[in-house]
Parts: sequence; structure tokens; C-alpha cells
Amino acid sequence: MKKNNELNELFIKYETNKFQHGYADIYFSYIEKLKNENINLLEIGIADGKSLLAWSDYFKNGKIIGIDKNHINLNEKGINKSNIIIHQGLQGNSKFIQSLIKKYEKFDIIIDDGSHFPKDVIKSFNLLFSSLKENGLYFIEDTQTSYNHFFKGNPFNLKYANTHMNFFKNLTDSLNYQEIANPFYKKKIYDSKITNISFYHNVIVVQKGINDKPSNLVLNNSYENKRYDEKVKRSGKKIKYYIKYKIFYKFYTLCLFLFNFIKKIVLFRF
Ligand SMILES: C[S@@+](CC[C@H](N)C(=O)[O-])C[C@H]1O[C@@H](n2cnc3c(N)ncnc32)[C@H](O)[C@@H]1O
Repeated sequence: MKKNNELNELFIKYETNKFQHGYADIYFSYIEKLKNENINLLEIGIADGKSLLAWSDYFKNGKIIGIDKNHINLNEKGINKSNIIIHQGLQGNSKFIQSLIKKYEKFDIIIDDGSHFPKDVIKSFNLLFSSLKENGLYFIEDTQTSYNHFFKGNPFNLKYANTHMNFFKNLTDSLNYQEIANPFYKKKIYDSKITNISFYHNVIVVQKGINDKPSNLVLNNSYENKRYDEKVKRSGKKIKYYIKYKIFYKFYTLCLFLFNFIKKIVLFRF
């Protein structure tokens, strides 16, 4: 990861705890190329406005929008930056978030440094993802709360808890949805819309983008169909491969599907 002095210096200058947490290098590796662009950056969680000031200096041509549940007025603190705009509201409030989307339409960068409660983090992501531009970046900070029951996380059941870490871990399947060899697979909301999910210590970065590269192993979520097409194309022996892939292998997949379906119901019941 690239080391950056400029962003580090700004984080130090404005005393945002993003510096102590060591987030500057992570941010810089993603945002360096956007420095002079006319971007919209939305940060959830303002506190004293320290990070907004750093973003305001870094993205001189950008619009920096901050939201917080508390009423915050930077002018009252003697801070006057023309490219910072502040709104008061809860990050999990659909009406409030929709009003922001209506006003700003699209964001290039969204940062969640708000409540850090799993429910809020997941809800904000679900509400805001559609407003992220193509190739836009969504940062989630301080994901350690996922592992802490005092923040409504769950340190006792790491794999199955309803935490934001698990939400984003599960989202990685959307990166490879084309590879899922289950003909009964139903396309999920984020499939084909995410090109990268990166996990760092206490930070997650999601990059939006078109991800519709076909699989080289399955066709329309079916391994049998892909193999049948390839074999027939190569040898022309339709009946032989029809029996093998379209009947025998399909039946085998159906049995496994049913077995897993029943297993899921039984495990759910107990
Ligand atoms: C960690 S501080 C933000 C620090 C700031 N981003 C920085 O780096 O300097 C978290 C902020 O989130 C706000 N907050 C907490 N819960 C929230 C919620 N549900 N919706 C919006 N803001 C919330 C708090 O009021 C607090 O100001």
C-alpha cells in the first residue's frame, strides 16, 4: 500500500482520529486519483468536523457533505469552508437518506463513520448504494464493533451473527455470482454491481462497478449446460452428451440441491 504524507498531514493537522487509527494509507491508495476531481463525498458522522476539514482541503474541487444525528454548526466553531455542507439526521432513517439522495443524486465517495452499530451500518449501505456512482467507493470504518456485544455486535457466534462484518463477508459471493453452479440460484440485488470488496483491520472498502464477466466453468449457473455445449460443439455427439449432462448430471445436481434444502430446514428448526 502506498504511503502518503499529504493525507496523513491533513489528518494530523485537523486531529481526526483517522490518523491514530492508521486509515490514511488505506484511503490514499483509493482516492489519490480523485484529488483534483469535482467529486461529491458523503461522510456519515461529523463530531467536531475534523475529518470534513481534512477532506475539504484534500478535495479542493469537491463537495464535502457531512451528516450527523446531532446539530452541528461549524460556523459557530469559527470554521468557514465553502465546500462543506452539513445536514442533521439519522443514518438509518430512510426518509432522511432519501432526501439527501434527491438533493445530491450521486456520490463518488461515501464514508460510514457514524454510530458503528451493525444495524445502522447495514441499513445505510442498503439505502445509499444506489446513489454511489459507477466506480464509486464506499468505506466502512471501525468494524471492530461487529465483534463487541456492547455495540450490538456478537463476539460469541462469529460466523452466523447478524453483524456488518458478516453482511460484507456474505457480499463477497456477489463478486462471484456467475460461478455459482446452482441452476436454482436467484440473482441477488448486489450481483453484477460490485467489482471489489477489501477488508483491512477495522476498515472495509466496497467498489461499485459493472461485474458481468461470464464464467468459464458454468453457463447460467449450470455446470451441466456449459459442459454439454462444449462437448457437443467439439464432437457433435448430441445424444450421448444429452444423456450424460442434461439427464444424469442434472439429476445429480437436483438431488444435491434437495439434500441441502432439507438440511437447511432441519438445521433452522433446531
Ligand atoms: C466517530 S464520530 C465521527 C468522527 C469524524 N468522522 C472524524 O473522523 O473526525 C461519530 C459521529 O457519528 C454520529 N452518530 C452516531 N450515531 C449516528 C446516527 N445513527 N446517525 C448519524 N450520526 C450518528 C455521532 O454524533 C458522532 O458525531
